[in-house]
Amino acid sequence: MRFASRVNRLAGKGAEAWTLHAKALDQQHETGKDVLFLTVGEPDFDTPLAIQQAAIASMRSGNTHYSPIVGTKALRSAIADWHTELTDQPVSAEQVVVTSGAQCALFCAMQCLAQPGDEVIATDPRYSTYEAVIGATGADLVSVPLLPDRNFTLDLASLRAAVTPRTRVILLNSPHNPTGAVLHPDTLEAVAALCCEADVWLVSDEVYGALTYGPRHRSPAALPGMEDRCVVVSSLSKSHAMTGWRVGWAIAPEAMAGHLYNLVLSMLYSCPGFIQDASVVAIREASGEVRRMQAAYRRRRDLMAPWLDALPGLSCASPEGGMFVMLDVRRSGLDAQSFAERLLAEERVAVLPGEGFGKQAAGFCRLSLGFSDETLTEACRRIEAFTLRLEAENTLLTAAP
Ligand SMILES: Cc1ncc(COP(=O)(O)O)c(C=O)c1O
Repeated sequence: MRFASRVNRLAGKGAEAWTLHAKALDQQHETGKDVLFLTVGEPDFDTPLAIQQAAIASMRSGNTHYSPIVGTKALRSAIADWHTELTDQPVSAEQVVVTSGAQCALFCAMQCLAQPGDEVIATDPRYSTYEAVIGATGADLVSVPLLPDRNFTLDLASLRAAVTPRTRVILLNSPHNPTGAVLHPDTLEAVAALCCEADVWLVSDEVYGALTYGPRHRSPAALPGMEDRCVVVSSLSKSHAMTGWRVGWAIAPEAMAGHLYNLVLSMLYSCPGFIQDASVVAIREASGEVRRMQAAYRRRRDLMAPWLDALPGLSCASPEGGMFVMLDVRRSGLDAQSFAERLLAEERVAVLPGEGFGKQAAGFCRLSLGFSDETLTEACRRIEAFTLRLEAENTLLTAAP
């Protein structure tokens, strides 16, 4: 049987990024021993109780039927208000389209903006699903390198150089997965000016917007000239520990929101009503819990990054946002894949080799902060034991190659 050629554009490096995770699951299954999975970007917190109770109450009251296609007015208004509070950009509920997680919003936004013959610019490294999301539109992905020796910050000259007459969209993510880098106001301003000058769309993935550890989150959507050319994608997954509820959204200019409506109508036909009711409670009533979780991620970052940075053969910069730390293993004498494989085999700690996120992340491993202080302390101990063994084997290099 024949498949559409599109299926080939859905597979790629993004799917390969998870090989080590699958191997760790096998190892745990076969040996029955405790593996510490620092692979997954999954909050370890339970969804706050008030949100769970709101979902149950809504379900009990009979809200188990179809809902408005792109979200209830109450949820769209709550999202619009929260976005304004977080970013200072006033938006109306009509600009908000509720989807099944930010992933679905990204997919929908890209389907509305890019087509075969276009180019979409994204960073290298980048979140692992971007390649397939862009690929599914038929457009070509153009990578802009985020250099490890510049702390993976966006270099404007490289971004500018990547823009061609075929460029239709620039896709950015701040705070960034996997690197934890945050786009600062001057960079955002320059990106916005470039988008206006080159007449391209900006899709801004802000799923970690509530998880910044320095200055507050900024959205490029709030900048002059962006009101007609910026789509913000976000969700409750990380901020509210609600990954499994699948609530996300796109905030788009009204004309685009109309196209998103048609797309959501034909592929999703609304998110469950009781989940939307609970999401209103999440946004309107759970800000204290959100702040507590954010403080916990910051504490874990401060626990892990300096510890790992002090180990022989390793470096670890403190991320400015998000829920990951990037461990630089370039001086360990091992490439990231071998480092991760040996760490799993010898110390039962699973981390993701950076290559799965892009060439520039080769030599790095991504570690998730979605675990208790005790688990992360134990993971650091095991990584320390492993690097001391590497030191004894004399494999460490004195400087990065
Ligand atoms: C950068 C980035 N964008 C989008 C997503 C998807 O989020 P959601 O669970 O809301 O679909 C993730 C999930 O890890 C992510 O890291």
